[in-house]
Amino acid sequence: MRRPLVMGNWKMNGGRTDAIALVTDLLPRVHGLDDIDIVLCPPYPFLEVVSCRLRGTLLMPGAQNVSAFTRGAYTGEVAATMLRDVGCRYVIIGHSERRLLFGESDSVVADKFQQATAAGLVPVLCVGESAAERAAGRTAEVVGRQLAAVLDAVGPAPLAAAVVAYEPVWAIGSGQAASPADAQAVHQFIRDTISTADPARAPQLRILYGGSVKAQNAQELFSQRDVDGGLIGGAALDASEFAQICKAVRGCGGAE
Ligand code: PGA
Repeated sequence: MRRPLVMGNWKMNGGRTDAIALVTDLLPRVHGLDDIDIVLCPPYPFLEVVSCRLRGTLLMPGAQNVSAFTRGAYTGEVAATMLRDVGCRYVIIGHSERRLLFGESDSVVADKFQQATAAGLVPVLCVGESAAERAAGRTAEVVGRQLAAVLDAVGPAPLAAAVVAYEPVWAIGSGQAASPADAQAVHQFIRDTISTADPARAPQLRILYGGSVKAQNAQELFSQRDVDGGLIGGAALDASEFAQICKAVRGCGGAE
């Protein structure tokens, strides 16, 4: 049985007061959900305060990004070990906004994945195709290439122990989520790809869906066989909505 996981990606929103208020509002709403994992990814400057507020609760802090380098003269970068220092457990790697707006290549994404693993963080590897790639029937090719870049760099065991998030670019922030059947098809492709490299571990890999998940569509998406939870953007900024999404994932982790 894979343990369901819901992650809130706050992106570059709100200030310190908002971050504290959101955690304070959320905690009682998700109290007692001890059969799932919940991870909050605030902006870097608020990681420490969020991390402190989550101590002693079931929720865990995560980061939205990490440096591809270990330490040294890399102005503006944040190392994986620094994220560990402030209590981070998870880190999002290769989000499409990083790939598209900040030019992160497959090889940079693979380097970041390795940094996260070496520091003891759980990498959450984002993969997904653009609208044009889907229209051209290239979804499997694109997702396969994104997975292969990390598989070739680290091998199957670290990838199977990590988390993969399928986030079709066209679904992110658009209000148009993938249909449950389309999401399941790509999730199964991801699991099959890892299975080819490591059949023993692939059944344990947690695969999240991300892209316009809301309280209203969460249950149907999460009930798909290979959908083990969600990576939530906009809806994670609303404590009530996010708590409903967390509740929708209960019991949904694919049984193996
Ligand atoms: P969204 O974002 O839920 O706002 O579509 C998801 C993501 O980018 O992780």
